[in-house]
Amino acid sequence: YVRIGIDVEGVRLWRAYSLTSPTHRQDGRVTITVKAIPDGKVSNHLVRRAKPGTLIQLDQPTGDFVLPQAKPAKVLYLTAGSGITPVMGMLRDTAFDDAVMIHCAPRAQDVIFRDELRGLAGDKRLRLTEVHTDTDGMLDIARLGELVPDWTERETWACGPAGLLDAAEKHWSEHGVPERLHTERFRPSVVATGDGGEVTFSATGKTVEADGATPLLDIGEEAGVLMPSGCRMGICFGCVTPLKAGAVRDLRTGEITEAEPGVLIQTCVSAAAGPCDIER
Ligand SMILES: Cc1cc2nc3c(=O)[nH]c(=O)nc-3n(C[C@H](O)[C@H](O)[C@H](O)COP(=O)(O)OP(=O)(O)OC[C@H]3O[C@@H](n4cnc5c(N)ncnc54)[C@H](O)[C@@H]3O)c2cc1C
Ligand code: FES
Repeated sequence: YVRIGIDVEGVRLWRAYSLTSPTHRQDGRVTITVKAIPDGKVSNHLVRRAKPGTLIQLDQPTGDFVLPQAKPAKVLYLTAGSGITPVMGMLRDTAFDDAVMIHCAPRAQDVIFRDELRGLAGDKRLRLTEVHTDTDGMLDIARLGELVPDWTERETWACGPAGLLDAAEKHWSEHGVPERLHTERFRPSVVATGDGGEVTFSATGKTVEADGATPLLDIGEEAGVLMPSGCRMGICFGCVTPLKAGAVRDLRTGEITEAEPGVLIQTCVSAAAGPCDIER
C-alpha cells in the first residue's frame, strides 16, 4: 500500500490505499481505487471532489500483503467489498496456472472491477465465484470446502471486513494451515471501549474531551494538533507518542497502559481511559 496525503478543507490528511496497478505499468503511473465510506473524510473527498491536477503527497510503498518471489502452484483469493483492491494489484501483475477467487459483495453491480474479473474468468485465467450477500447470504467460511475442495493446499490472500478475516484466521488455524493464509485489514478490530476523559496535548497546549472509543490520533487531528501517523491501524508504529500522564486503552485488546517515564503509545489504536496527557 501507499499512503497519500491530501488537503481536505485546509488540513493535510494521510490515508493508506492499496496499489491496484501492476508493478511495471507502461506509463509509469500507479493507481489506487477508493471506495467512499459514509462520513469518510478522505475517501469522499477523493471520490467526489478531487479534480485532475490536485496535488497529492505520496509516501513510499510498504506492507507485507504481497506475492512471494517463488510462485505458488495454487492460489486462492478470498475478498469482500473494497478488499478486492490489493488483490486486483496482484491479479494485474502475476498470472497463475491455478488461481481461484471467492469475492463477496452485496449485489452483482457492487462488485468493484466486475468486468475485468469476469474477463479474467472468461479467459480461464481465474476461477471466479461471486457471492452476492443480499441474495446468497454471508459467506459461511465453515462451508468453504464446498466451493474450493482443495483450499488447504492453496496459498491464500484474504482481504475484507474484520468478520470475514477473523473467521478465516480461525478456520485456517483449526485446519492446521495458518501459514497458508495472508490477510490484509483496512482498519483495526475494536474489541474494547470504555470511559474516556480529558486529553491534554501538552506540547501544543490544547485540552479536549474525548470518548473512550475514538483513537487519540483522530482526537488530536480534530483538535488541530500535528499528529504523526502511518497505517492508522496499529501495524506500522508511525504514530507512537509518549504518554506523559494518565492512562489509555488499547482498542484492540482492552489493555490499559498507564503513564510512566519512557512509555510510548500507538495513538491510532489507543483511546483515553480517564484523563491523560499526550506529548504532542
Ligand atoms: C493497508 C491498508 C490498505 C487500504 N487500502 C484501501 C483501498 O485500496 N481502498 C479503499 O477504499 N480503502 C483502503 N483502505 C482504507 C483507507 O485507508 C481509509 O481508511 C478509508 O478510505 C476511510 O478513510 P476516510 O478518511 O474516508 O474515513 P475517516 O474519516 O477516517 O473515518 C470515518 C468513519 O468511518 C470509519 N471507517 C474508517 N475506515 C473505514 C473502512 N475502511 N471501512 C468502513 N468504515 C471505516 C471510521 O471508524 C469513522 O467512523 C486501506 C487501509 C489500509 C490500512
Ligand atoms: S499509524 Fe500505524 S501503528 Fe499507528
